[in-house]
Amino acid sequence: MLHVKPNPADERWNSGTQPESGSGSPFVLAQLSDPHLSSLSGVRPGNLFSKRLLGYLSWLRNRRRLHCPHILDALLSDLAQTAPDHVAVTGDLTHLGLPDEFRQAARWLKQLGPPERVTVIPGNHDAYVSGNWLETFSEWAPYLAGDESSVVDPYPILRVRGPVALIGLSSARPSAPFLAVGSLGSAQLARFENVLEQAGRRGLLRIVLLHHPPVPGSIAWRKRLTDARLLSETLSRQGAELILHGHAHVSMARTLVAGMRNIPVFGAPSASYAGSNPQKAARYHLFRFERRAGGWQLLLTVRAYSPVARRFAIAQEKEFLLTEPGL
Ligand SMILES: [Fe+2]
Ligand SMILES: [Fe+2]
Repeated sequence: MLHVKPNPADERWNSGTQPESGSGSPFVLAQLSDPHLSSLSGVRPGNLFSKRLLGYLSWLRNRRRLHCPHILDALLSDLAQTAPDHVAVTGDLTHLGLPDEFRQAARWLKQLGPPERVTVIPGNHDAYVSGNWLETFSEWAPYLAGDESSVVDPYPILRVRGPVALIGLSSARPSAPFLAVGSLGSAQLARFENVLEQAGRRGLLRIVLLHHPPVPGSIAWRKRLTDARLLSETLSRQGAELILHGHAHVSMARTLVAGMRNIPVFGAPSASYAGSNPQKAARYHLFRFERRAGGWQLLLTVRAYSPVARRFAIAQEKEFLLTEPGL
């Protein structure tokens, strides 16, 4: 089930773009998040320090049983059938951000699809401590890069696919033990504002990808996005049609009220969760966009893993209208 925070604006969000009138071909985007797919079975705990040692002990106690490869195999089979135009992975592919975990995740990404059809943004577990880029994120470089750059620095990245502008932010940064906060920083937000403005002028459907939930109060303080207010101020000036995030390990639907704009925000849970908490059950989200006169029609399909059937199937469907301002 989606955990929907009631808001009268939820089904008629304001769009900041002026889309062309008439309809075009639908575009389908799949979002999955937080697969935490790597194994730490070969890791020597004596070589780990500080936060990584605590994270390793957490994996040993719980996480290795909570995130299972057979669910990700079922996910790959399901995606082969639903055949989205593009897949967005919103971070936390690893546990401790170790070089070998990045190599494991790179092999899985190859199974997921080619870099042109798969966009990855980092999560806090991928940036668990400061690391050498060449030993870690370079393994995923083709999946992280924007259309115009082969190196992912600085963020945001922009990928245009059909009518859609995928704008990837990085909120991933190392934090102190027992914290899982993220931040964007003023320099990234300034560049983000330019990208939003230009994509908006082109009439593209602007989908923002970031790991941490952007709506203040939607997650525990120790896991929050520290500069959510600055992000909201940027969005109030330029707008965006949709924001997708991970990190919370539950499905979420919220509205970010940014100035006069109401921006829909959806969070995907962990795609590999095998525990007993039904709120955290493994799911991924499919977004089907169709251009309509005056806005965009959005069909959201939640596909959940059934431990009994050992496959993913539809759990929920809902239609929304993304409207122009003032409509
Ligand atoms: Fe996570
Ligand atoms: Fe996370």
